Amino acid sequence: MLTRLSWRVSLYINLKPDGYKVLNPEKEKYFDYTSVDISDAEYNAFQDLVYEVAGISLKEKKKPLLTGRLSKRLRYHNIRNYSDYLQLVKSDKHELQMMIDLVSTNETSFFREEKHFEFLDNYVKNLDARRGPFRIWSAACSSGMEAYTTAMVMAEADVKFSWEILGTDISTRILDKAKQALYPLDAANRIPQNYLKKYCRKGVRDMSGYMLIDKSLRAKASFRYMNLNEQPWPDVGLFDVIFLRNVMIYFDKPTKQRLISNIVQRLKSDGYLFVGHSENLLGIPVNLKTIQPSVYRKI
Ligand SMILES: C[S@@+](CC[C@H](N)C(=O)[O-])C[C@H]1O[C@@H](n2cnc3c(N)ncnc32)[C@H](O)[C@@H]1O
Repeated sequence: MLTRLSWRVSLYINLKPDGYKVLNPEKEKYFDYTSVDISDAEYNAFQDLVYEVAGISLKEKKKPLLTGRLSKRLRYHNIRNYSDYLQLVKSDKHELQMMIDLVSTNETSFFREEKHFEFLDNYVKNLDARRGPFRIWSAACSSGMEAYTTAMVMAEADVKFSWEILGTDISTRILDKAKQALYPLDAANRIPQNYLKKYCRKGVRDMSGYMLIDKSLRAKASFRYMNLNEQPWPDVGLFDVIFLRNVMIYFDKPTKQRLISNIVQRLKSDGYLFVGHSENLLGIPVNLKTIQPSVYRKI
């Protein structure tokens, strides 16, 4: 009796009344979305789209990285080829944002390229009191470690003028992390001990293994979405210091040129621009003076 019943159930699952085979949910679970091939034409179409939207030049060798990261979106939508996913991305702004979130590389750390922070410390300590806040922009801020490092340096410099930091990024997922200001404890490795004690709170119970940036610093930093490749930019005002680090590596020369010319317009006169140590502005005509490698001043 039981055998006959289970036989009937299995027949029902596998055959619709009109005789077509229906999908077997158990079997579908094991479809390997990471093994979906991307053709050259599909990859080129993704390259064009990512370039058009974010200015990011995806190199040929990044194919496995792209498919590795996008396979979870295929799985989520149960899409089994990249042409269909491309159509979805083009027609759905939310999915486009998800895709950009996944293709952007968010590697960062506290006190990354620390010479810049020594420079900043020295600079602000020697500044006179000023009218209006001293404004710092961490453009392409990733999860906010650059912005909070800057905040620690400013707080420690104990300047007599007010200051504020803006962090912006194209990835909304990473911006949520920056707003939370909550990091795994091992991210703290590079924070000097005295800063750790003063500006970071160690999580306990549910939060053990994490640290939270102190609220005095969180109050100084704000974060918002901004695509550096999109014009016009929102009105973010003018800045005394701009960090534009480790993002131009993903851009080609025309994109860099356009970006730097816009960045310079957001710098106050005499304002400083920091770029990543492996980046430079060679061959980009701008009214910036090189102060030391990767540090520029507006003239
Ligand atoms: C490698 S991280 C660098 C983070 C930080 N500036 C640092 O040096 O540690 C690069 C960041 O640039 C962001 N990004 C890439 N393209 C962008 C664009 N068009 N507009 C704004 N941010 C972008 C990425 O989302 C990522 O968070």
